[in-house]
Amino acid sequence: MSGAGSPRDMATQQGDSVEDALLKKALEGSIPVHVGIVMDGNGRWAVSRGLKRTEGHRAGVEALRRCLPALLSLGVRYCTFYVFSTENWKRPQEEVQFLMNLILEYSREDRSELMRRGIRVVPIGRWKEMPRQVVRALSRLVKDTASGQKLTVLLALNYGGRQEILDAARSLALSYSGRREELRDLSEEDFRRFLYEPSVPDVDVIIRTSGEKRLSNFLLWRAAYAELVFTDVLWPDFGPSDLYRAIIEYQGRERRFGDVRRE
Ligand code: IPE
Ligand code: IPE
Ligand code: MG
Repeated sequence: MSGAGSPRDMATQQGDSVEDALLKKALEGSIPVHVGIVMDGNGRWAVSRGLKRTEGHRAGVEALRRCLPALLSLGVRYCTFYVFSTENWKRPQEEVQFLMNLILEYSREDRSELMRRGIRVVPIGRWKEMPRQVVRALSRLVKDTASGQKLTVLLALNYGGRQEILDAARSLALSYSGRREELRDLSEEDFRRFLYEPSVPDVDVIIRTSGEKRLSNFLLWRAAYAELVFTDVLWPDFGPSDLYRAIIEYQGRERRFGDVRRE
């Protein structure tokens, strides 16, 4: 039985009101412009349930879907999700294959929903080196969501922070090849123009799930002054309330950027 007033229904209502209260609180503070999320713990989530690791990745897509409306409610402008790292190719072939298929399915299945919500999707990383079908589906997703104004979702795909810096250095060297003397005055701003999606601002906060406390090669250049928020929640269990809690934790930090405390 699950009609209005049943214990299950009441529990859901309580859950909703906690979520609403957390959103309200988060909206009272300053909202980060750019959030980064290391979606970790899919494998452990599945194994703890006696399932195959790949089932954890499937459940992870649901968590990603749940987060998007929550990011829109907060008014976050950019969110980078770490989907597949340059190091993840080391995993068993079956798992890599499964992840590639999942990315392909997601790009196709969620295209119209993302368009409807005004979400622009932009891949970052060496994503064009992924399997051809995946690249094709992603390219279509990018094209069809290009006019989205509410939120830019950056998908870090075959992404590595060191590789991003290396790719930037390579393009920079080519671009300056005829005017080497100008390199003497090269500024940070000149350099950042060669990063992936240079118009995207630095990341304000990086959230990592599953209790691991490291960056694992995520957004190295742009993370220079990011606040780091860690939670033990495994990614497939992560939902809007966890996101709001992470933002509230971020709001409690004092960002100094090397300066002294200002009253
Ligand atoms: C994150 O979950 C997903 C990817 C890295 C693709 P994991 O697969 O790393 O899950 P754990 O860390 O093994 O639990
Ligand atoms: C980071 O998670 C990469 C993604 C979430 C896509 P990993 O699970 O690959 O990181 P490590 O190996 O624990 O550092
Ligand atoms: Mg992991």
